[in-house]
Amino acid sequence: MSVQNEIRRLTAPDIRARKGGEPIVSLTSYHAHTARLLDEHCDVILVGDSLGMVMHGLESTVPVTLDMMILQGKAVMRGSRRALVVVDMPFGSYEASKEQAFMSAARVMKEAGCGAIKLEGGRRMAETIRFLVERGVPVMGHIGLTPQSINTIGSFRAQGRDEADWGPIEDDARAVTEAGAFSVVIEAVAEPLARKITADIAIPTIGIGGSAACDGQILVLEDMLGLSPRVPKFVRRYGDIGPAIGAAVAAYAADVRARAFPGPENVYPMRTKGKSGAS
Ligand code: KIV
Repeated sequence: MSVQNEIRRLTAPDIRARKGGEPIVSLTSYHAHTARLLDEHCDVILVGDSLGMVMHGLESTVPVTLDMMILQGKAVMRGSRRALVVVDMPFGSYEASKEQAFMSAARVMKEAGCGAIKLEGGRRMAETIRFLVERGVPVMGHIGLTPQSINTIGSFRAQGRDEADWGPIEDDARAVTEAGAFSVVIEAVAEPLARKITADIAIPTIGIGGSAACDGQILVLEDMLGLSPRVPKFVRRYGDIGPAIGAAVAAYAADVRARAFPGPENVYPMRTKGKSGAS
């Protein structure tokens, strides 16, 4: 076997080995340019099906297709070199049977070239996770709030805020771990429960609205940059790039209207006789 790349990408086993160690840094990305910016800081880049809302203005992740995920997965792979790229399996591409899940996951991994996939669901997906892992597909689980189930759960409410509700969520975490997932996203779960699950299971937990005690954290990039109009409580804004984009676009519009753009430095003069090249 020959070695193709100088820079070795992180793998699912590398992330699995980080249990209880240095926190795992992850963010979502759907584009080559943002993936390039994230790559030196993030261990995991998730091509999340949140792209349905963020890129396409959809109301939920339900309409997102496998083709959409593969297209953006390819872009993120082209933009990154070091981080493990995980691509979300969209609603309807894996729930019907473990065979359906394998065919969809194999397409994602072959066509996008990513290192792992993520799917939503605990106990109900355990058999599928095991089937995929046994056949060479690294799986990141996703428990707690599972947004693809919005039409059955009815709202994006935090889970496990009454101790009486902890049992099924803990069972989900155990089921995903025993099935062979290399890590698990815990979304919008009461802090003490996310902390307890992290202490109890053997694989890294990646919190989003979980706990600082989780083995890693993930946020949707556009949420933490201040680009999303509405964000859940668990988002901390690390930037406010919306106004910067608005100001840049306003300056551009004013220049275009005043015929101040393009300037002499932005246009191509005629070639001087005897010289060549376009720079
Ligand atoms: O789709 C997504 O962006 C996600 C993260 C929020 C974990 O699943």
